[in-house]
Amino acid sequence: MFRLKLRDELGIIKRNGLYRFLRKKDRNILDFSSNDYLCLSKHPEVIEAVKEGLKYGLGSTGSRLTSGNINHEILEERLADFKETERALVYPTGYSTNVGVISSLCKKGDLILSDRLNHASIIDGCRLSRADVEVYEHCNIESLVDILEKKGRRYNNIFIVTDGVFSMDGDIAPLRDIKKVAEEYNGVVIVDDAHGTGVLGGGRGTLKHFNIKPSDNIIQIGTLSKAFGGLGGFVCGIEEVVEYLINTSRSFIYSTALPPPVVSGVLRSLELIEEGYLTKMLQENIRSTNRIFKRYNLIKEDNLTPIYPIILGKRTMEISEYLIKNGIFAPGIRYPSVPKGLERIRVSINVEHREEDFERLCNLLNKFGQTNNSIST
Ligand SMILES: Cc1ncc(COP(=O)(O)O)c(C=O)c1O
Repeated sequence: MFRLKLRDELGIIKRNGLYRFLRKKDRNILDFSSNDYLCLSKHPEVIEAVKEGLKYGLGSTGSRLTSGNINHEILEERLADFKETERALVYPTGYSTNVGVISSLCKKGDLILSDRLNHASIIDGCRLSRADVEVYEHCNIESLVDILEKKGRRYNNIFIVTDGVFSMDGDIAPLRDIKKVAEEYNGVVIVDDAHGTGVLGGGRGTLKHFNIKPSDNIIQIGTLSKAFGGLGGFVCGIEEVVEYLINTSRSFIYSTALPPPVVSGVLRSLELIEEGYLTKMLQENIRSTNRIFKRYNLIKEDNLTPIYPIILGKRTMEISEYLIKNGIFAPGIRYPSVPKGLERIRVSINVEHREEDFERLCNLLNKFGQTNNSIST
């Protein structure tokens, strides 16, 4: 009976064109899908550090509060220095960081203001918290202020939560304005800089990009799975925030800590990011992509981040399949990951891409357009 019910539901998903399936990545394919922006996941020095970390064993064998606290505090000290905060705390994933931080700090009687395009892990953190949640229009300060004017005075605490760089659009949150609004309403800003760290502000992230000094009322979240090329998440902020999370954050307390070799690997990634040259190379590649994509009319304005949404609407999956058949992996993104009508190919670039790779992608998209009249919907 249960099996049949699930089959029916899967049938509906299929009929709506939203069926997802797993695809093994061909190692030789030209890859525009990964978040390994600095190509650190395979960097020889990172791999060496991972091997070195194996002396602690494969797994951490327990939560950080039991047997799992091994080499993690070294990483936390370095992350706090890197983000110029008093403390940092590492979680098993970026997802569990958002869920654990937001659900722990935001309580009944509080108000969370969340950008419409925030990542699913932020949305889930908001849902798990007992706070009231209001969604403001994407990067729209008027919409944010409007909600605060109407409702902001009734609550104990106000939290404004936003991606630093939006994962599916590659645009940057207007953090200066958000910070100003937060100050006016005595609120706290939580920035998820999963895609800004290693990319903006010389690698230090979106706050640095805007020259915003970390303060008591800003909490920075990051992930070790994207520009760091590893796995894990972290939160940076004041001493009291970190101590509070160690004592109350369920995804920190009730989950096994990161494997020590991963900690060693991302520590080396951090050192390489701090040297700055990889982020510089990435920014150079972003400039090349801007130039080439503009020539092919794929973008109108320059991007500052390596995420390029090519909005194709209903034909997105067809075009993505066409690219795969021709040796390029650039995944199609559909609802609910993005709004209906804004289905897209998400092209993400990294330090190892060459100009000829961008040309190849653009040529194929062009060819598809010619053989199918137009790729626009
Ligand atoms: C903006 C954002 N936040 C958080 C996450 C979750 O990070 P992780 O993949 O490390 O769990 C992601 C990645 O999927 C993301 O794009």
